[in-house]
Amino acid sequence: MNLYNFEAATAMLGKELVRARQHRRMTRSALAMHAAISRVTLANLEAGRGSLSSLIAALKVLGHRFADQMPEVELGRSIARARKRAGLSQERLCALARVSKPALVRVERGEGNVATLVAAMDELGLSRSLVAVAIESAPPPLPDPTGQVLLGDCREHMRGFAQQGLMFDAIVTDPPYHLSSISRRFGRKKAAPLTGGEPGSANPYRTLASRFMRQTWDGGDIAFDVDTWRAVHAVLKPGGHLVAFGGTRTFHRLAVAIEDAGFEIRDQIMWLFGSGFPKSHNLKGEHKGQGTALKPAYEPILIARKPIRESSVAANVLRFRTGSINIDACRVPTDELIEMGRAGRKRGSSVALEGVGLPATLGGTVTHAKGRWPANVIHDGIDESWSRYFYSAKASKSDRGSGNNHPTVKPNDLMRYLVRLVTPPGGTVFDPFMGSGSTGVAAIQEGFSFAGSEQQAEYVEIARGRIAKVMPKHGSVLSELQPEETPAIRNAS
Ligand SMILES: C[S@@+](CC[C@H](N)C(=O)[O-])C[C@H]1O[C@@H](n2cnc3c(N)ncnc32)[C@H](O)[C@@H]1O
Repeated sequence: MNLYNFEAATAMLGKELVRARQHRRMTRSALAMHAAISRVTLANLEAGRGSLSSLIAALKVLGHRFADQMPEVELGRSIARARKRAGLSQERLCALARVSKPALVRVERGEGNVATLVAAMDELGLSRSLVAVAIESAPPPLPDPTGQVLLGDCREHMRGFAQQGLMFDAIVTDPPYHLSSISRRFGRKKAAPLTGGEPGSANPYRTLASRFMRQTWDGGDIAFDVDTWRAVHAVLKPGGHLVAFGGTRTFHRLAVAIEDAGFEIRDQIMWLFGSGFPKSHNLKGEHKGQGTALKPAYEPILIARKPIRESSVAANVLRFRTGSINIDACRVPTDELIEMGRAGRKRGSSVALEGVGLPATLGGTVTHAKGRWPANVIHDGIDESWSRYFYSAKASKSDRGSGNNHPTVKPNDLMRYLVRLVTPPGGTVFDPFMGSGSTGVAAIQEGFSFAGSEQQAEYVEIARGRIAKVMPKHGSVLSELQPEETPAIRNAS
């Protein structure tokens, strides 16, 4: 086969894989997650490149096999049988297909790479078409994602869920940062007393309902109140993750409230950006050159987990599907070759590669086939050399969608990354402080179900419109929580 035909043949195999995925109505993210491969690996497979083990994992999830592959016979063994039926030795097939013997041996073991597989199949005259296997041996299809937007106070909604025994797989939320409260707390003109707010309250922020960016919802102290997070704790499955954005100046209060509610603080992601504007009071005259604030360049994102209930994370995942995070689904793509010989391993540099699984050795150098391990830093492209971390710029016009006037919309790729990181396949994400629904849009796009609360009617309507736009064909956005419509919510007690 000449080079041109060969490339066309591998590309056609990639297209077959896309067709099979579309046949099963799965997003790329959902397939990658179920097959325990990274999205980069899947994208490569869909371009006709990659390892046979990844291809086999994807086909297993899709419930597809090659048209000439014997039912119930694993792909590598099926190739070996076809070769023997054609009366060819391994050496002869290698010569005809122009592949090396070790490469063919690996393929016949279900390892090796897709390129060798295609070369061998073409030489043996085997069809590259994929067919769906009998439905009874296919994995159960994922439930269609559902979207539910609820108007009102999230604490009321959570009380209702808890009474019904409803539990979510993940909570991803962007609560008020209460920045206005802090300015007033320490402001010159209207300083609050150093301790105590309302009579009987230990929290000096309790009565400080004021305005941030002219938003009354930023006042009060709901995100600093332990009871808010106790309510969240009550509606999250054991081992479920909570992801909460915070402001740099008030993050500590949020984190303490979440911890006091019974969560384990697992990490803090820094979302770095270069576009912040310093809100500094600059002095004049003889004090010129002095100011009061740094340029904002990051937002902290808290990652917490409800303690697991089983004796190990693995056992918890088995029972509730929650407890772990989806590393492979969130790897950061890289084309770089990483020097990592034995010495590198000894120095401990293999830690971040753990679980990478493949690697293709090139004289002491290995490639990361699945991308880099997701880090606790995300950035907006400050510098090229930051490409090792996940990239997310601030929300663009298209992220917001037309008519969205919410002042604190989060970017779509960031929200997709976060929900993908913490939600098990087919799970349901809840956002108590939904705003204009950025978490919901991301959850549905990633193949999860979503429920969200928002106290302001105008934002609920914006959220409903944005989520409806990304719902799969037959999905709809409901405004009452319907447990029977939300298969992933289960009573986990
Ligand atoms: C920081 S904004 C979230 C914005 C969202 N990330 C987006 O992209 O549109 C916080 C939202 O929480 C809402 N909120 C505040 N207190 C609430 C409560 N008790 N129940 C429900 N929503 C509340 C506010 O109205 C506001 O829209």
